[in-house]
Amino acid sequence: MPRKLVTSALPYANGPIHFGHVIGAYLPADVYVRTLRMQGEEVRFVCGTDEHGVAITIGAEAAGMDCAEYVAKWHDEIRGTFDHLGIEFDIFSGTSKSPSHAELSRDFFRALDSNGFLIKETSQQLFCVACDRFLADRYVVGTCPKCGHDKARGDECPKCGEWLDPLDIVQPACKVCSNTPEPRSTTHWYLDLPKLRDAHIGDWFQSKSWKPNVQAFVAGLLKDIDKRPITRDMKWGIPVPEEIAGDEEGKVLYVWFDAPIGYISFLQEWSVAQGTPDAWKDWWCPKNPDDTELVHFIGKDNIPFHCLVFPSMLHGAGKGYVLPTAVPAMEFYNLQGAKFNTSEGWVIPLEPFFETYDAESTRFYLLSSAPETSDSDWRWEDFQTCVNAGLADTIGNLATRVLRFIDKHFDGHIPALQEEHRAELDGAMLQDSGPMEDPADSVLRFRFREASSRLLANAAVANVYIDTTAPWALRKTDMERCGSVLNTAVEYLHFLARWMAPFMPKKAQALWEMLGESSPVAESGWPELPKADTWRKDLGGQKLGDIHGLFDKLDAKAIATEIEKLRAGHVT
Ligand code: 2FM
Ligand code: ZN
Repeated sequence: MPRKLVTSALPYANGPIHFGHVIGAYLPADVYVRTLRMQGEEVRFVCGTDEHGVAITIGAEAAGMDCAEYVAKWHDEIRGTFDHLGIEFDIFSGTSKSPSHAELSRDFFRALDSNGFLIKETSQQLFCVACDRFLADRYVVGTCPKCGHDKARGDECPKCGEWLDPLDIVQPACKVCSNTPEPRSTTHWYLDLPKLRDAHIGDWFQSKSWKPNVQAFVAGLLKDIDKRPITRDMKWGIPVPEEIAGDEEGKVLYVWFDAPIGYISFLQEWSVAQGTPDAWKDWWCPKNPDDTELVHFIGKDNIPFHCLVFPSMLHGAGKGYVLPTAVPAMEFYNLQGAKFNTSEGWVIPLEPFFETYDAESTRFYLLSSAPETSDSDWRWEDFQTCVNAGLADTIGNLATRVLRFIDKHFDGHIPALQEEHRAELDGAMLQDSGPMEDPADSVLRFRFREASSRLLANAAVANVYIDTTAPWALRKTDMERCGSVLNTAVEYLHFLARWMAPFMPKKAQALWEMLGESSPVAESGWPELPKADTWRKDLGGQKLGDIHGLFDKLDAKAIATEIEKLRAGHVT
């Protein structure tokens, strides 16, 4: 079985992340990784912060901090958010501190140069005299030469999506100080993307099946692709190798050149920490390329770099690096119908959020509203419905009413199944109460919404079973049958806890322990769909753990207040 190397886009270490980021690239990856692990697959899950680039230098300047201090602060903050949400990477490092990152990035540059995939060229670029620096593409603002939109950025137009050259921007201005920049001459290195496309990447891209949003977009880019600059005039960043830079001073690698190399250097760091420094090679450069499946979880704005530029770098380096097998790119996730916007206050600040709301229910709601095939939204009202009607009523209430009943009337021990009831109750639970479907099957197809609704539908089956077999009434007439009915319900809850584990790991563990298990539920293996005769673990006689509620319901008033708070804090 191929090993799975899973990456999540490296968040910029220059601000907090919000739920749009979480559902875009991190939470689905975490669920995917947890599912694969329960299925016994060998997986590594790599991420860290993206710490170079002009957005960082400008953010640090504005905060009055030096860059290293600034990125360390945001690294810790972002990591804290992942910890709250139970998103667990094998390694979460950073591009300015991972020990081998700078040298590996320079090695990529050297290899691409010696393999003939770099072009050195002198050109005009916009220089802001007031700020005393060349302006990164994104720091030039003005009018789009294609569509006339007056808020175009130097690298692309947010309206028509065109990749732009800042020199073509009409009435350019420096984004930081608003002065008009002037063209000056500077030398840079460019990645020869047309050559890389013709060498391999074009055929490779065509040979694979991609998500529709990736396929159309990248196929379009490939048609008239141009070389892309991969160096910048800056101080903060990884210097271009001296032997190649020669007399050119002050050149660093472009942040988008070094950032994805973090997926490799961080795994190198992990390998060293494990005491097996070469282990990363088995993942990134296996003897047989089919031995690794590389899966990049990203938001849709990262598609060109993960489906085109980084694969080109991996191929062009000529060192046997694997290329991505799948890039499950999410669409955008909005907040109550409008884009998340931290500076305009259109966000849910996560620190206070987690003081009030349960992170595991939040995971589940985010997954059930994931922007898989089109943009979608966080809606407070839907969050409430998901928690109250979905999690609390369908899962939580099911578990507590069955288990509390056993606690009270069977002295906390799972009642025995009477042999004469087995076949009938197998049928009642597994056939007559509704269809069950495997959530893992959806996760492996990157269908997280479908996976979460399958989980709830599977729980609903047990509710139907309980309603039809009515153990509460049986207690008065037939205690043995009542015991068999409950035994069967508990056998099913045992499945439910395992099905829940990738989605809500802590709640799943809590349910597992209420069922009297003490091992980690995640180590119990992924269950096949239960099949008559073979599905029971014969839990009769096992002592239950302490029984407690799993999900707190959300109050409609509190939700209305959240919406009011959001509207009141919105500044445009
Ligand atoms: O868009 C972003 O947030 C980038 N920091 C993602 C980088 S992903 C990678 F390739 F490192
Ligand atoms: Zn300026």
